[in-house]
Amino acid sequence: MDGPSGTGKSTVARRLAASLGAGYLDTGAMYRAVTLAVLRAGVDPADVTAVRRVAEATDLHVGTDPNRANVHLGSEDVATEIRGQQVTLAVSAVSAVPKVRELLVARQRQIISEVRATVGGIVVEGRDIGTVVSPDAGLKVYLTASADARAARRTRQDSAEGRTATVDVVKADVERRDRLDSTRAASPLKQADDAIEVDTTELDIDGVVAHLLDLVRDRGLSG
Ligand code: DC
Repeated sequence: MDGPSGTGKSTVARRLAASLGAGYLDTGAMYRAVTLAVLRAGVDPADVTAVRRVAEATDLHVGTDPNRANVHLGSEDVATEIRGQQVTLAVSAVSAVPKVRELLVARQRQIISEVRATVGGIVVEGRDIGTVVSPDAGLKVYLTASADARAARRTRQDSAEGRTATVDVVKADVERRDRLDSTRAASPLKQADDAIEVDTTELDIDGVVAHLLDLVRDRGLSG
């Protein structure tokens, strides 16, 4: 499942995985955790060589249980801290570094194959899942929504989680990240040719999940 931020992608992917009894992988959390490590190391996110060094040394662990966010740097739980503003501002620069992508894509493929072999199926969300990480996925979904709807959702999510921001500031940030994520040289955000586009502007979460469950069943992937 790919798409820009604020489409409801994370909530939908988690709920879909839980309904299917499948695993779940949040690849954005992996880029965010490496970004947190970069910031903590005092490294400039634009310094490609230094960022690469931090990424190689980072002891990152992510869980695949859709009912429990689990992101660790070493033994430290960073699931909340990676959602903060500092990380959100720097993550596009860090995720544009080819070596960071190479490392994380290899980890993602490894996690996907382990979960497929044990649990049976996995819902993976990000920006390049259908195009790069899992070109052979049984179902590819590309979620979209208008910039206004995405900014409104992100603002609600931020305030529910104790971060205050106005919708204008959030909209500017959402548009800035979309621009950076879609125009970078290394695996930019892009809809795969065989992905099904689902516009969530007018749909609530339940509606999107129900629609995706139908798509999964139509493909014979739910059993
Ligand atoms: O989904 P998110 O907003 O938590 O993702 C954070 C950033 O990570 C996003 O701005 C782009 C990057 N990202 C990426 O480049 N590739 C992915 N597969 C997932 C996220």
